[in-house]
This record gives sequence, structure tokens and C-alpha cells, in this order.
Amino acid sequence: MTLVNDQRAQLEELYEEMAPSHLTPLWELLSQLVLPQPRSPAVSHRWNYDDARSYLLRAGDIISAEQAERRVLILENPGLEGLSAITPSLYAGLQLILPGEIAPSHRHTQCALRFVIEGSGAFTSVGGEKAVMNPFDLVLTPGWEWHDHGNPTDTPMIWLDGLDIPTVRHFDASFAEHLGEKVHPETAPPGASIATYGHNMRPMRGHVADYRPAHQPLFHYPYAQWRPALDAMAASATIDPHLGHALEFLNPADGGAIMDTISAHVRLLPAGFTSSRAARPTARFSSWLRGKVPHGWASVRSRLAIATSSLSRRGRNCDWRRGRISSCSASPTRSPSRNSDSIRRNVRDRDFRTPTASACQDHGRT
Ligand SMILES: [Fe+2]
Repeated sequence: MTLVNDQRAQLEELYEEMAPSHLTPLWELLSQLVLPQPRSPAVSHRWNYDDARSYLLRAGDIISAEQAERRVLILENPGLEGLSAITPSLYAGLQLILPGEIAPSHRHTQCALRFVIEGSGAFTSVGGEKAVMNPFDLVLTPGWEWHDHGNPTDTPMIWLDGLDIPTVRHFDASFAEHLGEKVHPETAPPGASIATYGHNMRPMRGHVADYRPAHQPLFHYPYAQWRPALDAMAASATIDPHLGHALEFLNPADGGAIMDTISAHVRLLPAGFTSSRAARPTARFSSWLRGKVPHGWASVRSRLAIATSSLSRRGRNCDWRRGRISSCSASPTRSPSRNSDSIRRNVRDRDFRTPTASACQDHGRT
């Protein structure tokens, strides 16, 4: 903005006089509000799982799941300090349930999902139906659904939580209730929803309303189902030059993303794969495993990392070396080549694809 003569002095006088009325001039701020390129306060960051795990287990020695309600270590983005957010729109945390513990039943407007990291046989109950969880399973707790967690096994259970807490906070829409009982009464046998809706089919008669909301009939996506699907796709489909082999989890009610505000997908990146195209700007975080991913946990734990990337920024590539926590600028144009296959489990907000799609294309991002 070019000013002439004493315009600046007149404007400053005007600003000073109107400030007590809480009025500000858009023309001074327009370039910060309407950006030519996305700009995010979030930064790329990588957490080392083994370090986080040891802190989480120490917390487990001090406070019970019942005392804490949810015993979780928040993965807070260094650029969003104090906001309990991993991206501007998403929250993430690592949750621990020890043998014999129950995290009591509650419900809230926030949508949540979890990717199981370690442990096998603990459950998440949603509306009174248990999902018995195994490593790498995806389990949803959609907004305003009663849910509790329990671990009847003799080993700790840890998973990665993802919620839309920042988005709900943005709309001042946080409500929560406690059931008053530790566990919701059983409404259906474990696995009933998968048996009914987990095979690309649905009942001829719509009796889902008996125990599940019609708009959210499925909440458990087992690794035993999604991994073979991903492998089969990798064996037959042409690889996407940016995503690698990627499958998005779907809500069978409408064929859309799993929840209103969050979507999730898994990616298989073959050895030597280098992402070559730009990604559209969106908020996301991921956990990934390098190497052939076996069906047991112990041999892969040290290969897990969790990261968030700020896709609106260009810059250096991340340092993906195992065991290193690194802040890294996101490179929307490239991810480094690896010498072994890797599996990525990604959580992202549901970006406003329709209005942004054409802009992304114009900027060479897809
Ligand atoms: Fe919850």
C-alpha cells in the first residue's frame, strides 16, 4: 500500500481514536488474512515412540486410568504451544491402558479414532458393542457415542488417539457427559457391526437402528482386513506418484470419510519409492513402520515413529532416521527414498476439498 503526503499520519490518528471502539482497518491486515499461499503456525515434528512410551509407562505407575479418566500423553505441535493440538485442526495423543484397568464410559461431541500400537485383546466399547483390538486396527468413537475402554489381558495396551478437539473448540461446541457407570451395558455381541457392515454389504432390512446409529454403522476396521486389501492393491494397481499405494477408510453408510471432521488412510510405500508431486495443503499426522510389517508387535516397535507435517511449507526434507526426534519443514514436493517397504497410517482433517481443489491444481498441488 503506497501512501502519499500525510496520509499515514492521518490514518494513525484515526486508528488511535477508534481503537477503544474495537474497530480495526482491514486494509492494514488484508495481506495477512487472505494469503496467496497457505501459511500455518504448525511445524513439522517427529516424536520417538520409545521415548514417549517410557514416559507413558512411568505415568502408568503413578496414576490409574480411572483416576485420569483417560491416561494420555498429548503430542503437542511445537508451533502450537498450549493448544493441545498436533495440527491446527487435530489433536493426537498416546493412551495407555494397563492390565485390569477400565477407562470409564463417557461421550462427547468430539469425534475420535485410534490406531492400535501395541497390545492385543483390550477393547473399546461403542454404544455397548465391544471392538476387541489388535495391533494396527483402526477403531472409531464417533461424536456423542458412549464409549469406554478396558484391558482384560495381562499386558499393557497403547494406541494413538486422533480427535477433532481444535475444530470443535473453534466452533465453541464442546459438550461431554459421564454415564455414571464404568462400562456401558452390552447392546450387541463383540464384532456384530463388522459381521453386518464390514464386508461391503448391508442388511436387506435396515435393523441397524436397533443398536447402532444408521449414519455410523461401522466403527472397527481391523488390520487383518485392511492389510490384505492394501497388499492386493499394491500387487495389481499402478502406484500413485505422490501417495504410493493408498487406501482410505470409508463409512459404509454413505461411502464418504469415516467421520464428519476426520478421515484416515493407510499407505504402502515400496522400497525405493520417492514421492514426486506436491500435496494439497491439509492438516495431518501419521505413524509409520519401516520394513516388512509382521503380525507380531515386538519386532516392529522400534521402527515406529509419529510425525506431523505442515504441508503448506516448502523446505528441507525430513530426517527419517530411526530414533531421532526432528523438527522438519514439510516438503510438499518430495519425501525421501527408503531402502525397505513402509506402511503409513495417516489421519487428516477433512479439508474443504471443493473450494480448494481448483486452487490446489492451479498451484500444482493435487
Ligand atoms: Fe472419549
